[in-house]
Amino acid sequence: HSGQAETRHDRKDAPTTDRDRVAIIGAGHVGATAAYALMLRALVREIVLIDSDPAVAEAEAADLSDANALARPGKIWAGTYADAASARIAVLTAGAASHGAESRLTLAGRSADIVSTCVARLVEAGFAGILLVAANPVDLMTLVALRRSGFSAARVIGTGTLLDTSRLKQTLAEYFKIAPGAIEGLVLGEHGDSEVAAFSTVRIGGLTLEQFCKGGPEIDRIDVERDVREAGYEIVMGKGYTSFGVATAIVRICESILRDERTVLPVSTLLTGQYDITDVCLSLPCVLGGGGVERILTPKLEPEEAAALAASGATLKAAIAATLA
Ligand code: 2OP
Repeated sequence: HSGQAETRHDRKDAPTTDRDRVAIIGAGHVGATAAYALMLRALVREIVLIDSDPAVAEAEAADLSDANALARPGKIWAGTYADAASARIAVLTAGAASHGAESRLTLAGRSADIVSTCVARLVEAGFAGILLVAANPVDLMTLVALRRSGFSAARVIGTGTLLDTSRLKQTLAEYFKIAPGAIEGLVLGEHGDSEVAAFSTVRIGGLTLEQFCKGGPEIDRIDVERDVREAGYEIVMGKGYTSFGVATAIVRICESILRDERTVLPVSTLLTGQYDITDVCLSLPCVLGGGGVERILTPKLEPEEAAALAASGATLKAAIAATLA
C-alpha cells in the first residue's frame, strides 16, 4: 500500500479536554525548559509540573511563577496526576539520562520503566488528551507509551526527528549563510544513530540542493549528516545534557496541536506499512492538528535514503526485541 494518504485521526473521536492546560511529567532540564518556553509563548493559561521528586517540581514551579508575573498571566504549579487528567497535552520528559557518548538506545530499559509508570498513572487519572513523549530513546518510549496507554496512534506522538531536522536546517543555514527558516528538508527515522538526513527533500526557494549549489562549492553531505547526528552527543559532552533544542521542539508540537494548525512536522508515530515498515514508532512528516497525528506523509525518497530508512526501522525493531519484549 502506498501509505500516501492514511487518515490517522478521525475528527469525530477527538479527545475531550476541558481546560487550557498542559501537563509536564518530569521537571528536569527538559521539562522545566519546555514549561518556560510554553509560558513565554503564552500558548496555554495553565502549566502543571509533575515530578517523582515533588520538591524539584515545586522549586521549578516557584521559579517559573516568578518569571510568569513578568511574562503573561497564567498559572504554573507543581501538581499531581489528578491535575493532569484534564490537560489537553501531557508531555513526558521523565526518563533515564544519557552520559557522554552513551547511545540513546542504551537507556531503553531504564526509561521504559519510568515511562510505563507515568503513563499508567495518567491513564488511571482519566487523562483524555494527547501524549507527547520526549524521553529517550524517544521512538521506543513512544511505542511504550502507546502500548501502555491503549490510546489510538493519533494521540501518542514522539518529538522524534523534529530536533534533528532543526539541526539540519541550522547546519545548512550556517553553510549557505541564509536563514534556517528558508530551508525545507527532513531528517527521518530514529532520533538517534540510525537517523536519515533525506537530502532529496531539501528545498531552498524551490531549488533542490544540487540546483542551489550549482556553480558554487558542493556541500559535503557526509559531513553534514555526521554533524547533525552527533550534535546531541557534542552538547551532552559539554554541558551534561541537552535542553533548549528538544524543549523548543516540544513547544512547536504543542503549538500545532493547541491551535489545530495542521502543520507538517517530522515526529515519531506508529508506522503501519509506510515504506514497508510496521509496528515501530519512528519519524515521518506528519500533519499535526488538534487530534494529534492526522495524516502520515510518505515523500518519494532516493533509493539509498529509502534503504537507510528501512535500516533505521530494523535497528529500532531489534532494540524493541532486545529491551522491551
Ligand atoms: C538530543 O538530541 C540528547 O536526544 C537528545 O538533544
